Amino acid sequence: MELKDAIRGRRSVRKYKPTPVSKETIMELYEMASWAPSGMNRQNWFFVAVTGEYVKKVAEICHQGYKEYIGSKVSSVFSHKPQVVKETTSFFATLGGAPVVVFAYAEPGPESQFTDVQSVSAAIQNMLLAAYDMGLGTCWMTGPLNKEKEFNQLLGVEGKKLVALITLGYPDETPKPPKRKGVKIDLLGFDQ
Ligand SMILES: Cc1cc2nc3c(=O)[nH]c(=O)nc-3n(C[C@H](O)[C@H](O)[C@H](O)COP(=O)(O)O)c2cc1C
Repeated sequence: MELKDAIRGRRSVRKYKPTPVSKETIMELYEMASWAPSGMNRQNWFFVAVTGEYVKKVAEICHQGYKEYIGSKVSSVFSHKPQVVKETTSFFATLGGAPVVVFAYAEPGPESQFTDVQSVSAAIQNMLLAAYDMGLGTCWMTGPLNKEKEFNQLLGVEGKKLVALITLGYPDETPKPPKRKGVKIDLLGFDQ
């Protein structure tokens, strides 16, 4: 696939087929993620991929987290779009049937957490584009981050900052591309 097609065509997928994703596929995605740029070349990402019973537990925690924190914000932002609220509520409870969830963590370093998170985000986007290229769907999620402690306990992770969860699996929907907003770039000094 052409890179530009991947960049334009990737969508957040919130409905998945139950088809399992192999360990080899996950490792290929990880390899793609690991070529991202990173502050001081620290390559400070750490991923945990879970499937099976773990995903059920992750979904339970997400559902609880949604009720406690992000749910009210979604309801308020999308008060004019009740269908979005309904679908989002359901997604947090079921994770759309995704067979895999990938947790993206930042290992803390000498720079600010801002830098740490940007490096991990670059790796996440690499992973999302590679997944799309391989026929897989993903959804980058920060909504459940209020449950970081519970996830760390479940996964046995310590001393790292949870940046995002990524649902992963073969898509069972073809989401429409959201409209791009107006041009948000100033071009200075080009026409001299
Ligand atoms: C930092 C970040 C956090 C996000 N968090 C969530 C989330 O918690 N739940 C969710 O359903 N989608 C989440 N998304 C996905 C966005 O809603 C999605 O990217 C956006 O609506 C544009 O759609 P597209 O990804 O199909 O282009 C997140 C995306 C990013 C980049």
